[in-house]
Amino acid sequence: MNLDRINEIIDRYGADRTASLAVLQDIQHEYNYLPREALELAAQRLDMSIGEIYRMATFFGAFSLQPKGEYICRVCLGTACHVRGGQRILEALERELGIKAGQTTSDGKFSLEAVRCLGACALAPIIVVNEDPHASMNSDKATRLIAKLAGGKVKPAGAPTTG
Ligand code: FES
Repeated sequence: MNLDRINEIIDRYGADRTASLAVLQDIQHEYNYLPREALELAAQRLDMSIGEIYRMATFFGAFSLQPKGEYICRVCLGTACHVRGGQRILEALERELGIKAGQTTSDGKFSLEAVRCLGACALAPIIVVNEDPHASMNSDKATRLIAKLAGGKVKPAGAPTTG
């Protein structure tokens, strides 16, 4: 792990503990999760206990302590998306990837998440892959998208990881 990168993030906020949430957000954005070494360094430099940092990291649902896949696929199950087939899309992707929502494929390629309203109900049903929204989805379109991202064919590789 490149601790220089973590130091840069902390320096960006003047190593000010009142900016600890922003520091964690930036680390999460950089690595897609909060690596243990990064949390230890942040605690030390922000003059916080490791317990305080972990409490913050586990309190906010947007943070993950587990590594995420290269592609994080979020399926909206908010009301508008749910009534237009969001659950069927999620189940199709679970079958395609061989994992459940909340898990990551063992090759580290995909993480699958079920989320609440993404604030784009007019585009329902919607899935977001990393930062890219995909509107008016259905099961076929979603599995084709995943296959394309996987380079043609999705093949579940062994046991998934949870996180
Ligand atoms: S319910 Fe899916 S974007 Fe609002």
